[in-house]
Amino acid sequence: MTSDSKTPRAPTIKSAREIDLMRRAGHIVADVLSVLRDAARPGVTTQELDMIAEREIRSRGGVPSFLGYLDYPAHICASLNEEIVHGIPGPRAIADGDILSIDCGAIYEGYHGDSAITIAIGNVPKDALDLIEDTRLSMVACIDAARVGNKLIDLTKAIRDYAQPRGYGIIRQYGGHGIGTAMHEEPWIANNLADFDSPERRSLRGFRLRPGMTVALEPMLTLGGWQTYVGDDEWTVFTQDGSLSAHWEHTIVVTEDGPEVLTSRTGQP
Ligand code: MF3
Ligand code: CO
Repeated sequence: MTSDSKTPRAPTIKSAREIDLMRRAGHIVADVLSVLRDAARPGVTTQELDMIAEREIRSRGGVPSFLGYLDYPAHICASLNEEIVHGIPGPRAIADGDILSIDCGAIYEGYHGDSAITIAIGNVPKDALDLIEDTRLSMVACIDAARVGNKLIDLTKAIRDYAQPRGYGIIRQYGGHGIGTAMHEEPWIANNLADFDSPERRSLRGFRLRPGMTVALEPMLTLGGWQTYVGDDEWTVFTQDGSLSAHWEHTIVVTEDGPEVLTSRTGQP
C-alpha cells in the first residue's frame, strides 16, 4: 500500500480465534496463488487470470477483497516487468520472457489475507531470475525479523541489509501494513529506510512488535532505481527508469515462538 499521510496509530492485537480466521483467509489466498502460478502460461491474458482468481476465491468460501477497494476494478493485481504493483488485469497476453507479479487478497468471515508472488514466464534472463528470488529472500529476511521485542524499523532494515549489498533498488512510498478486519490497518511498514525520515514516521521507528500483531510484509525491488510513477489508469505503478521490478508479500502473525506465515499452508514463507 502507499504511504499516504495517515497518522500512525497502534495496531490491534488479534485473539487466537481471530488469528484462526486469518489463517483460513490466508490459506484461501495461498491456494488461489498456487492455481494462478500454474495457469500463468504464455498466451494467457491477465484478465483470464483474474477470472480464475475470482472463481477460485469464491469456491473456497472467500470473498475477493481487492474488487471495489477504492474502486479497484479487479480481483487480483497483475503487474508485468517494469510494472511494480497494482497492475489492472486486461487483454494483454503474458509472453515468454515476462516476469509477472500477482497480488491476491481474500476475506473469510470478515478477516483478510493478502499475499503476492512474482513468477518467470518461460525463458527469462538470469538477472531477472535473480531479482525474483532475491526479492523473495528479502521478504523472508523481513519475516524473520518479525519477532517479539524487535522494532518496526528492524523489518525495514532486514530488507535493506539483504537488498542493498546485492545492488537492487528498493521502492519507496509503498510498503507493508497491518491487516485484520480491514486489508490495510496500522501500522504502515516502510520497505525503504528513507521512508522513516518524515517527522510523522520517525516516531514509528522504535515501535515494538508484540504477540498477536498481524501484518502484511511486501518488499518491492528493482534492477534499477527506487523511483516510481503511476500510469494513466491511475493504478499501475511503474519504475521510472523502466527497469524490471519484483514484489513478494505474505500476511504473518507475530507470536512468542516467532513469525507464523498465515498465507502459506506450512506456516513458513
Ligand atoms: N497488496 C496490495 C497492497 O497492500 C493490495 C492492493 S489492493 C488493490 O497495497 F485493490 F488496491 F489493488
Ligand atoms: Co498488501
